[in-house]
Amino acid sequence: MYQKVKGTYDLLPKDTAKWIAVERAIRNVSKLFNYKEIRTPIFEKTELFHRSVGDSSDIVSKETYDFLDRGNRSITLRPEGTAGVVRSYIENKIYAEASSISKMYYMGPIFRYERPQKGRYRQFSQFGAEMFGSNSPMADAEVISYAVSILKSLKINDVTVHINSLGGKESKMLYREALVKHLAPGINNLCGDCQTRYQNNPLRILDCKVDQENELLLNAPSTIDYLTNEDKTHFESVLAFLDVMKVDYVVDKNLVRGLDYYTNTVFEIKTSIANLGAQNTICGGGRYNNLVSDLSGPATPAVGFAFGFERLLLVLEALEYQGDIDYTHLFIIGLGDSVKEDVMQMTNRCRMGGLITETDLNNKNLKQQFKQSEINNARFIAIYGENEKLEGKINLKDKQNNTEVTIDKHQLYNYIVAELMKPAPSSCSSCGEEDSCDTCGGE
Ligand code: HAM
Repeated sequence: MYQKVKGTYDLLPKDTAKWIAVERAIRNVSKLFNYKEIRTPIFEKTELFHRSVGDSSDIVSKETYDFLDRGNRSITLRPEGTAGVVRSYIENKIYAEASSISKMYYMGPIFRYERPQKGRYRQFSQFGAEMFGSNSPMADAEVISYAVSILKSLKINDVTVHINSLGGKESKMLYREALVKHLAPGINNLCGDCQTRYQNNPLRILDCKVDQENELLLNAPSTIDYLTNEDKTHFESVLAFLDVMKVDYVVDKNLVRGLDYYTNTVFEIKTSIANLGAQNTICGGGRYNNLVSDLSGPATPAVGFAFGFERLLLVLEALEYQGDIDYTHLFIIGLGDSVKEDVMQMTNRCRMGGLITETDLNNKNLKQQFKQSEINNARFIAIYGENEKLEGKINLKDKQNNTEVTIDKHQLYNYIVAELMKPAPSSCSSCGEEDSCDTCGGE
């Protein structure tokens, strides 16, 4: 018996409807914000992630799936989406296209060798978005409002946007100096990883999961206090734009994010729904103004975010979100061997015309076929036996309106389409009575 690899899961047919509904909601909101989809490979040269996410980040130092391909090239399954999108942006010279701003989104599998638990997997999916070409605080605010709008469209309201600023190169250098000074007296009491990070990337120490409750880290200086005037103004403007767009947030001075490429604004969206514990961050993102040039592209400011799809789904499950309900328009019940060819012909005709149509393929009896029509949540059930065949008729039940008719079998498709086009009956807003309301005199 083969079993799935630790940290992976199967998305079963009974669960895909919700997944697809979430994808659809995301695509709809993405359209409103004028983002277009990009699809990049799920593996890239290992070097790309070392240069972007950073050698000293947990993701690159401990969590990547690396392998040598048969040509002895070092390849990595992508541990996040931004690096591949930036690589593609540069390689395909997207920056040279007409518009100075490029907006793109992506969905797909991501791989991190983490300790699996609820909401944390080794293969998971992200929906992410990246905007290239604007250093305006309006862009940061738009990106955050885009992420929040996606949650709103899924009716996920109980979330908090945490926001902070790391500043640009100069601010980060000032902060680094202050942090190193603060940590110096106690660094030997921190874990081995922190001691290594102290040398090459002290900011990473603030992310340490082992020492996160250590007083030294709890009392560490805040990035916000070391921002240059320019970076401070940028951050304040982002907050002002969020205010006018009525996007709620809390300034979280401890937020530093675990990837090296961020500059200025960083943010995370957390939820208390779904009991996700430490995995309650459903979205993370920020500005990364140096990454395009660090990867040998033209200097281009950029900002983006990514959602963890599985975490979104866990939240929706806790909210008892149903997604799109699975249904079929029509189930055709055929009774007797002599009707089979007609049934296949009608089924095919209806499918070709765009009706979701199902029929029995296993010679089940009438009762069992009715059961199947229920399982398929069919609105119409057509019954076609030897008598109907002789008369050229078919019996049709409409489960929604509780009606039953016998029609010419050649009319089956047209009849159903006409019924589906009928508007749903309007009802009185006062008492719920259908059409013009005689009951209460309301409209
Ligand atoms: P990240 O914070 O590393 O950011 O990941 C984004 C989201 O992916 C997290 O907030 C979380 O919901 C989800 N996630 C992370 N690890 C796992 C896991 N092991 N299992 C399930 N879900 C997980 C990035 O990846 C950046 N590339 C985001 C970004 C885009 N920044 C700018 N542009």
